[in-house]
Amino acid sequence: RILILDFGSQVTQLIARRVREVHVYCEIHPCDVSDDFVRDFAPKGIILSGSHGSTYEDHELRAPQAVWEIGVPVLGICYGMQTMAAQLGGTVSWSDHQEFGYAEVRARGHTRLLQGIEDFQTPEGYGMLKVWMSHGDQVTALPPGFKLMASTASCPIAGMADEERGYYGVQFHPEVTHTLQGRALLRRFVHEICGCSGDWVMGDYVAEAVTRIREQVGAEEVILGLSGGVDSSVAAALIHRAIGDQLTCVFVDHGLLRLNEADMVMEMFAGKLHAKVLRVDASELFLRELAGVIDPEQKRKIIGRLFVDVFKAEAEKLKAARPGHRGVRFLAQGTIYPDVIESGGAKSKKAVTIKSHHNVGGLPEQLGLQLLEPLRELFKDEVRELGVVLGLPREMVYRHPFPGPGLGVRILGEVKKEYADLLRRADAIFIEELRASIDPESGESWYDLTSQAFAVFLPVKSVGVMGDGRTYDYVVALRAVQTSDFMTADWAELPYALLKKVSSRIINEVRGINRVTYDVSSKPPATIEWE
Ligand code: XMP
Repeated sequence: RILILDFGSQVTQLIARRVREVHVYCEIHPCDVSDDFVRDFAPKGIILSGSHGSTYEDHELRAPQAVWEIGVPVLGICYGMQTMAAQLGGTVSWSDHQEFGYAEVRARGHTRLLQGIEDFQTPEGYGMLKVWMSHGDQVTALPPGFKLMASTASCPIAGMADEERGYYGVQFHPEVTHTLQGRALLRRFVHEICGCSGDWVMGDYVAEAVTRIREQVGAEEVILGLSGGVDSSVAAALIHRAIGDQLTCVFVDHGLLRLNEADMVMEMFAGKLHAKVLRVDASELFLRELAGVIDPEQKRKIIGRLFVDVFKAEAEKLKAARPGHRGVRFLAQGTIYPDVIESGGAKSKKAVTIKSHHNVGGLPEQLGLQLLEPLRELFKDEVRELGVVLGLPREMVYRHPFPGPGLGVRILGEVKKEYADLLRRADAIFIEELRASIDPESGESWYDLTSQAFAVFLPVKSVGVMGDGRTYDYVVALRAVQTSDFMTADWAELPYALLKKVSSRIINEVRGINRVTYDVSSKPPATIEWE
């Protein structure tokens, strides 16, 4: 296994992800762990991350001395390389030429780490790498025993190596995808230089996570707010695997879920997994409080507040209803790594709203509970893979995202039960047809080819004709987008035949809707949701 020491870089988790991708187990720990910790961990290799710090300003940002004493290979990345240089007798200086972004690095000195790894060659036959750099300081003198491994025009020592000891430093970031050969470099380091076998799989992660959860929780009880979304579902399945009936899931049905969603969630968790799930039907409360409210932000706030209230009440009941018992001690959440970054990074107005809903902010303190977040270090696609390994159905794990406020932001203006019922049925038809329609070119369904697709209820009536009669009914808009990050999105060019089928099915099968439109707006300027 590999030990990653974190000096506070934004992208340390990406190093872990790349190492897991080449099937090697790794753990991230803060850079100030003790020497004994490093020895007891017994890594086959160590990676030192980047940092915002500066080696001559932040004297406490050092690798523990044991790193240099246990005789295993070490890779220093960016700041990690600088501290390696500073601690082993080299020099680091502030450079007046800061480098940020794309750079071309020339491989030097034929090292094992870079041998044969290149993007192109110079006319003189030097291997060149296209990399991503982000630094102000740089190494200006090699420590004893080291040789030059790479350089750029403005950073003469962009890489260094002491092959005898297996110490390597790179000023660029191999963990980001902009460094095209980054994966190859990290694979070379962990497989060949550290000698890790590369047979670790997500199934092993389950076993390790189960052990960690058991250690953290002991004999205490845990509650988890199950929403039916991917993250909370995978967290629930994982924690249930670890502690069984010590986990109680609370599933709040706010009446704004998709067709049959609540039953499906119950069937999966209570039925198949035999987990303890408390289903709380709060739909009347939600609809009552939403009556007459038109403003989207106000609707979001109401839904978020009620959700927290209902959940809190259930948690208090669980704590109180067991005389003599110590009661629930942990609140589990399906926080994943991108949520962790989001909460530390710049927040848009919307991001704050999103957070305040699904992160139930402040709840653990109010309830006097400790947090249990077993997915904190995983990326979305890893969470999905984990879900499949845990036996959750693929359709659940590879589902499009669904906003916390649910249909509440897909019914424009005032939310009414009648509208929600109509929308649920129209939406289910759309999703069913997307799943059934296979694109001949890729062989994938249009559901998988789109990132998010749903129906929106428009509370306006238009005239139509059906049989011999005139109708005067509501309108539904279909929305389907393709995006990689949900920050920008294109409307999906769905086949006309598919749209035609969806439209005629909705109009024929959902009495009360007589017109279907397709939303052809991109984000920006439009958002993905209509509210
Ligand atoms: P927009 O509409 O801003 O949506 O383009 C971007 C993504 O965020 C989801 N979304 C929400 N998720 N609570 C959530 O949990 C919310 O209030 C919320 N609003 C939007 C939206 O579904 C899309 O995936």
